[in-house]
Amino acid sequence: KILANSLFLGKQIVYMPTCHSTNDTAREHVRNTATIEGAVFITDDQTQGKGQRGNSWEAKPGENLTFSVVLTPTFLKADKQFFLNIVASLAVNDTIEAFLPNDQALVKWPNDVYLNGGKVAGILVENAFQGSRLSSTVVGIGLNVNQLSFKVNTATSLAKEAGSAFGLEEVLHSLLMNLEKYYLQLKREQYDLLKEAYYGKLLGYAQTRKYLAEYEFEGKITRVEDSGYLIIESKQGEHRFDFKEVQFLF
Ligand code: BTN
Repeated sequence: KILANSLFLGKQIVYMPTCHSTNDTAREHVRNTATIEGAVFITDDQTQGKGQRGNSWEAKPGENLTFSVVLTPTFLKADKQFFLNIVASLAVNDTIEAFLPNDQALVKWPNDVYLNGGKVAGILVENAFQGSRLSSTVVGIGLNVNQLSFKVNTATSLAKEAGSAFGLEEVLHSLLMNLEKYYLQLKREQYDLLKEAYYGKLLGYAQTRKYLAEYEFEGKITRVEDSGYLIIESKQGEHRFDFKEVQFLF
C-alpha cells in the first residue's frame, strides 16, 4: 500500500508482521539499497523496540502504530539536527489533536508526547552524517493508539483518552501527511516558524517549574538550541542541559 495524496512520504510502505526494531530495519535499508526518501517501515509486532537513552519501547502487538521513516535531509547542517526532532514531534502532536479535538497534546523535551498527563508517543530520531551535514535520518515513531492497559500508569493511548478505538491506517496517514508538511517547512528553512510551533507545545515553556540536575532547582525553559540543548533560566542564571542531564519534577 502507498500513501496516495503525499508528495514523497509513504510512496513506499514496507509492512512486516513482526520485526526487531523498525529503526534498525530502516537503517539497514539505507545501507544496502538506493535510498528512497520517505520510505516507511511498519510492523504490528516489534520485539526489541528501542527508546531514547538506551531504553526499550514496548507496545502490544496489533494495537498501536510502530514505524520508521527514512529521510535524506542533506540540506541540513549537523548543528541544526534537532529540527528533525521538532518536525517529528509537531507531526505527532497535530495528529493526536486531529483525532482528539477536545484535548491538548504536549511535547516533553526532547520529543516525548503527552496527553492528559500520560505518555502517548515516543520518538527516536537517528541521524547519519557526511562531514558537517546530515546524510540520512531514520525517524522512529511509536504511538499508542488502541492499547488500553499498560505496565506503567504513566502511559496512555488515543483510545484510552477518547473512550473509543481508532483505525490504525487512518491515524498513520494523518501522521505521514503531517510529517511531510513539517519536513517541507524545514526544507524551506522556516526555522523560526518551526521553533515557535514547538515552543507552543512544549511542556514547561516559559513557566516556572521544578527540575532536578545535580541538585533540585526552580526555573523556566526559555529556549532549545538548534543542536537540541535545553536552556532553563533560574535565579542563579542560565543552565544548559544535554539529553540525560536534567529531570522534570512535574
Ligand atoms: C522513547 O520514548 O524513548 C522513544 C521510543 C521510540 C519507539 C519507536 S517505535 C518505532 C521505532 N522503532 C524503534 O525501535 N523505536 C522507535
